Order: sequence, then structure tokens, then C-alpha cells
Amino acid sequence: MTWLPDLSLRITTFPDDRALAKKLAADIAAGLRENPRLVLGLPTGRTPIRLYRELAALCARGEADFSQATTFNLDEFVGIEASHPGSYRTFMEQHLFGKVNLAPERIHFLNGAAPDLDAECRRYEAEITSAGGIHLQILGIGTNGHIGFNEPARELVARTHRVALKAETRRNNAALFGGDPERVPHEALSMGMVTILHARRIILIATGKSKARCIDRTVTGPLTPKLPASFLQLHRHVDLLLDQAAAEKLSS
Ligand code: F6R
Repeated sequence: MTWLPDLSLRITTFPDDRALAKKLAADIAAGLRENPRLVLGLPTGRTPIRLYRELAALCARGEADFSQATTFNLDEFVGIEASHPGSYRTFMEQHLFGKVNLAPERIHFLNGAAPDLDAECRRYEAEITSAGGIHLQILGIGTNGHIGFNEPARELVARTHRVALKAETRRNNAALFGGDPERVPHEALSMGMVTILHARRIILIATGKSKARCIDRTVTGPLTPKLPASFLQLHRHVDLLLDQAAAEKLSS
């Protein structure tokens, strides 16, 4: 475990992704005991899969109770239905929603097939507000430093919006579309930077060597829209949970 007092982000390193997932799942279960009506912001991607497996196991053992919790996912692809096998909604059903006792009416998702995508983004913001805001936002990070689908750009967008995905991001999501990056949608809807930064508490998880460079830049670099995660330094309650590989460039 490493604590770097001169940095605004609190960093904890774990021997491996399993230890990380177990600790975070136990913390979320404890958070649910403290506040059963917890409002969670959730990511998809490879990184949280173990976390979701641990949460499902805790729920099966009666050690995590989601019955009164609310969730908001960060993002969804544009142009595919929620039921599409590659959608983030399908991913969440497979890895978490189908395995824990969340009430379906308290699961919130962006609809990438909505006829009016701008109205859909406004609807999502309004739902987050009427839920009282997000208590705990869990984030992954893209190798290019994106959080949610806030991609590196000259300017970042504050609120939930439509975004064009970078080629790198589409390649990283190819597994959801039969391994073919060409089949990954070109656009997505994503919570904006302010939507994310208004969460009361943020926990970013990163595992593996491929994340080491963007983690180092997130923690020690300047705030720049070229690395959207760097803006997490503005928030008072951000934890970075890392495995050894993702943390390897930090100590230098
Ligand atoms: C997905 C999301 C993305 C991912 C990021 C890392 O909902 O918001 O920001 O967290 O692309 O993805 P993995 O975990 O697959 O490396």
C-alpha cells in the first residue's frame, strides 16, 4: 500500500487484480450496509469484471444487499439496442445485474438507440439529479486516459453527451463485437466530465502494464484535456486502486 501525501489522489496498490477486486467489493458491501440506498456510478470494460464477480459472490452469500441501491452506468454505444449482444447494457446484465438483487427500476442506462440522442442525454442528467446525485462513482481508465467515453480532445464536454470514439477505443472494444473493430459503433453516449466530477466519491481502478503510463500522467501530470483523467486531481475524494503492473511507473 502506498500513500503519497503530496498528491491529491490517494493511491493504493495491490499485489494483483484479484486482491484489488476483493477489497473494493468488500468496501462496496460495507457502503451498502451503511447506506442501503447508495447511488452507484458503474463502468463496463475488462477491468471491473472481477469486481462484479466478487460482488455477485458476496450477494449470493447474503453479504451484499443491492435491493434498495440505484445504479447509473457511465456510457453506451450509439445505434444499437440495449438487447444487442455488444451493448454495455448486455455486458452489465451478464456480469452484474443478472447476478445481484438490484431492483430493475433502479438500474439506469443511457439508450444509444433513442430517436433523439440529445434529449436522451438530458433525460439521463435529470435522472441523476432526481436520484440525489451519485454517491460513489467507480471508473476504469482507457489507455489514452479517457474516463467514461470522455476521449482526449481540445475541449472536454461538461455533461452527458454524444461522442465520436477514437480508433484506439474501438479496437479496445472489439471483443464485444466478435473481435472486429470495424463492427464497433463509431459513436457513444457518455456522462460528461462534470457529471463524473460531481460524484461525492470516486474510485478509479486500473490493472495491467498497459495502464501504467496513463496512470502516471493522471497522478503526476498537468491537468489537460489531452488526458481527461488528469482532471480527477480537482476532486477531493478520489482513490486510485492499482495492481503492481499499473502502478509500476509511479514510484520513479
Ligand atoms: C466503460 C468506460 C471506459 C473503460 C475504459 C477501460 O464503461 O467507461 O472508460 O473504463 O475504456 O476499459 P478496460 O477496463 O476494458 O481497460
